[in-house]
Amino acid sequence: MTATQESPTAAGSGANATQNFKAAAQSAAAELADTPPERVAAIVTAVLKGVHAAIEEYDVSYPEFQAAKAWLMEVGEGGEWPLFMDVFVEHAVENQVARSQKGTKGSILGPYYQPDQVRLGSKCRLPRRDDEVGTPLVLSGQVRDLDGSPLAGAEVDIWHADSEGYYSGFAPHVPDGNLRGVVETDEEGRFEIDTIQPAPYMIPHDGPTGQLLEAAGWHPWRPAHLHIQVRAEGHRPVTTQLYFAGGDYLESDVAEATKPELVIDPQDDGTGVRRSSYDFELERG
Ligand code: DHB
Ligand code: FE
Repeated sequence: MTATQESPTAAGSGANATQNFKAAAQSAAAELADTPPERVAAIVTAVLKGVHAAIEEYDVSYPEFQAAKAWLMEVGEGGEWPLFMDVFVEHAVENQVARSQKGTKGSILGPYYQPDQVRLGSKCRLPRRDDEVGTPLVLSGQVRDLDGSPLAGAEVDIWHADSEGYYSGFAPHVPDGNLRGVVETDEEGRFEIDTIQPAPYMIPHDGPTGQLLEAAGWHPWRPAHLHIQVRAEGHRPVTTQLYFAGGDYLESDVAEATKPELVIDPQDDGTGVRRSSYDFELERG
């Protein structure tokens, strides 16, 4: 990928992700007002024990402690906490929550969800630039209840990176709303979404998260993916991602958010359009 002048910086996309997250997190914080102090103490103690154990195991020095402290400050100042948490921690929370959810497997939300995108009919094309580059991709499928009944009027909220790995709303050179939309299923619960193949995504690497990756010898890539949240009245929503068979980094996602059940294998229909179907199953609740 070539870096252009307009490439999103870690600080730029981080600041946007921070704003977004703060707005969404307010209601979550209100729900936690009654958390007993015992639970807070138990979780924080467990986290700190892990830190203390690592210090002992690796005989961590004062210069290393100071470097860690300076780095943590930079993550905050650069607005990179949402990126860091979504890459390194969210998958563990998602796996935990998924243990009690039936139906389509979930995956992490990531930092780039934007609510209230354009509403589209069941057979639609996602908003794209006139000169959008990328292999045409059509994703079709059906949204169903666990008992197999189709869910008409369900919402398939989809967002993904462009063919260079950039997300609208976070990369200044991509217009707002590009490759994002809320698709409503038809009376048989079906949808057919015309878009383009996204590229693998490189997490912003010019800030402190990037420094950490480099210092640890880790690569900054996520495999190409489509983000999808499926919602239907009276059902538990599913937040997930679809990945592409044979794609780069599928086995080494920096965010550890891939699952074998979420891999699609689009096939060329003979006209240069790659097509795949994927059905979603939602649990009542
Ligand atoms: C990040 C970006 C993504 O597109 C994603 O799906 C998960 C994490 C990130 O930069 O943190
Ligand atoms: Fe993503």
